[in-house]
Amino acid sequence: MTLLRAVKGMNDVLPDEIGRCQAVERLFAETMARAGFREVRTPTLEPTPLFVRAIGEATDVVEKEMYSFEHHGEPLTLRPEGTAGAARAYLEHAIHAKEPVTRWWYSGPMFRAERPQRGRYRQFFQLGAEVFGDPGPGCDAEVIDLLVGFLDALPVTGAAVLVNSIGGKQARERYRDALVQYLTPRSSTLSPDSQRRLSTNPLRILDSKDDKDRTAVAEAPTIHEFLDADDQAHFAALRAHLDALGTPYAVDPRLVRGLDYYTRTLFEIKGAEDKLGSGSTLVGGGRYDRMVAELGGPDVPAFGFAMGLERLLLASGVDAPGRVVDAVVVPIGAAAQSPALALGRDLRRAGIRCDIDTRGTSLKSQLRRATALGARFALILGESELREGLVQLKDLDAHSQERVTPEVALRSIPDSLRNPAGGATAPAEEAP
Ligand code: HAM
Repeated sequence: MTLLRAVKGMNDVLPDEIGRCQAVERLFAETMARAGFREVRTPTLEPTPLFVRAIGEATDVVEKEMYSFEHHGEPLTLRPEGTAGAARAYLEHAIHAKEPVTRWWYSGPMFRAERPQRGRYRQFFQLGAEVFGDPGPGCDAEVIDLLVGFLDALPVTGAAVLVNSIGGKQARERYRDALVQYLTPRSSTLSPDSQRRLSTNPLRILDSKDDKDRTAVAEAPTIHEFLDADDQAHFAALRAHLDALGTPYAVDPRLVRGLDYYTRTLFEIKGAEDKLGSGSTLVGGGRYDRMVAELGGPDVPAFGFAMGLERLLLASGVDAPGRVVDAVVVPIGAAAQSPALALGRDLRRAGIRCDIDTRGTSLKSQLRRATALGARFALILGESELREGLVQLKDLDAHSQERVTPEVALRSIPDSLRNPAGGATAPAEEAP
């Protein structure tokens, strides 16, 4: 029989790796909560027209990367990103009528049928946030600075913030025309993909990784020449805020993004090339002031970002907590099984993470497993301990052991866990 395997580009995350994921997710949730963001959970499956309208028909994501299918005649798509769903939920629940400013964060799996490589998968996890209702550059700067603080705390080293402004719809249309005018006589020097983009989505040519395209656009006009006065003022204020905050960034006038909904501020945070390879973008985001209105709602400005959890893990030095449990209860012989279950339950109720080895194997093999789980203590229940109502408390780090009552064990273990240097019965120190 052929062994069934996971779908290409969709990975299992095994428990050894989950510790690192959870450490990142926890820090993200804390960072966002501290800034007044609340978690939102939207469905993984959305109506296909939502993404077509929000992201744009002529984008790679919508053109070729969506997992779409029909179910009972309804076109559905596994979400390729979280912004469109968040905007739909914001509108569907008329949040704009209840709150002037809404700050949401989310995390969850996203799906894109891309060519899998290091840091690029077909199912990946994003951590993201959206602010609805705040049009100002202060909002953009605050969120970018929040992200820089988050990456520092992980820590991710060597990250670089790039910002740009692509203005409003009119500025972009003027720029689009100018770019087409500039590139058309040079079209034979462009890659076949970019020759096609020249008529569908010329701004994407700026984002091409192809050397031929890079050479062709090196001298092309930049969007900054086409921004109107309000766009320019917004961008100048964003930079002033970032300067005042001391947030390091660089302006990249050729920065464009693969999703069509952006207006004004765009930004990316790149990771170090050596850790991430070509897929070096850790975070992508920007302002999308038209989306809510284009989905049929009122004029609500918005700003947000998302980052790939897998890329954060590749780029960061975050450690997995090594200890699976604090203690293991080790029953020796059949008669010790029930008392061991009761002791394990009492330990858990006292807040001690504990595994009970119910296999009925030898002391040696149970202790080996305790070590593999990273347990600090083994509570051994042998024949004599059972007779005397005691438990043998073995400190696996300090290599010491003593026979104590279960009550003493329950009292001394939490103190020792707070005081890793001391033995189980060492005098309790102040909790940190
Ligand atoms: P995005 O640039 O398409 O933006 O994706 C954001 C981040 O998700 C990327 O920087 C990367 O870390 C991660 N990512 C994207 N595709 C993959 C993939 N195939 N495999 C692994 N990681 C990936 C958005 O999705 C926008 N919704 C961001 C946003 C929110 N803009 C405004 N609000």
